[in-house]
Amino acid sequence: MGYLDGRVCIVTGAGRGIGAATAELLGQEGARVVVNDLGVELDGTGSDTQPAEEVVERIRAAGGQAVANFGNVADHAQAEQLIHSAIEAYGRLDVLVNVAGILRDRMIFNLPEGDWDAVIAVHLKGTYNTTHFASQYWHDRREGDYRLINFTSSSGLFGAPGQPNYAAAKMGIVGFTYSCARALQRYGVTANAIAPGAATRMIDSIPGERRTFTASVDRSPENVAVLVGFLASRASGWATGRVFGARGHEYTLYSNPEPVRVVAGETRFTIERLEAALEATFRPAVAPPEPRSDTPRGS
Ligand SMILES: NC(=O)c1ccc[n+]([C@@H]2O[C@H](COP(=O)([O-])OP(=O)(O)OC[C@H]3O[C@@H](n4cnc5c(N)ncnc54)[C@H](O)[C@@H]3O)[C@@H](O)[C@H]2O)c1
Repeated sequence: MGYLDGRVCIVTGAGRGIGAATAELLGQEGARVVVNDLGVELDGTGSDTQPAEEVVERIRAAGGQAVANFGNVADHAQAEQLIHSAIEAYGRLDVLVNVAGILRDRMIFNLPEGDWDAVIAVHLKGTYNTTHFASQYWHDRREGDYRLINFTSSSGLFGAPGQPNYAAAKMGIVGFTYSCARALQRYGVTANAIAPGAATRMIDSIPGERRTFTASVDRSPENVAVLVGFLASRASGWATGRVFGARGHEYTLYSNPEPVRVVAGETRFTIERLEAALEATFRPAVAPPEPRSDTPRGS
């Protein structure tokens, strides 16, 4: 008996890295898996069917069930086709895992429009595209133990100086996930996001001295896959609208934003009164700017 027997899962960006480890673990645990990957370079250029094909072969060789899909998640029509391919192949869809991603790192003053658009298109629009069509299917059924699992990043949660496009997309995915959690709970869908840390080609692109892992840590993407395996299961129904971290053998629950201080008045503030109120009440709660550093907080 596998932990995920009977579940039908789509994993985007499943030809490499975290997506591939996830698809393989889900397959090993008895899920039927649609392995989506466009097979692009790290910057989103090119395309290749081989990464998705190889993962499907590995899942089948291990006795699991999988089919490949080579669609571009940034393309609305191809995302619709991806969702339909799960239903055509396996008759249902229980779990959507949005992993596909690219990087085009630049400081904001060097970031061309094309590099902004490309990163937003794959991460943020891609996550919307697939979720839109999956949620239509879930909405029509109205009951089930459906799961939406999105990928964010510590770059989105904390900011990263060289990744304004990526961080914006990844924080956008958090707001999108919160919204889907609120909207879809009544249809039996939970929605959560994972901020991972794993040794993949994406992390290899970050200069060695800036990586936050030490050599002794088990950096394999299989550790992230384990959390996806749990969230994909019926056992995870208590968790929705949350952000989790997964890195090495360590898992984190992040807080959801909440107000830390409030000032309120009986009448409209003048700028001077507001200045005094904020100095007294907000300033003690605001950490002074960090010393200058170009060290990003991961990827
Ligand atoms: N590796 C980390 O430590 C880390 C840290 C933070 C966030 N993440 C996030 O985790 C996810 C997986 O990252 P990874 O490290 O495994 O990256 P990776 O580059 O190893 O794999 C990403 C895969 O997505 C595919 N892909 C890219 N654009 C696509 C598109 N438009 N349609 C379909 N497939 C597409 C690529 O072909 C590739 O196989 C990403 O969303 C990434 O932003 C990773």
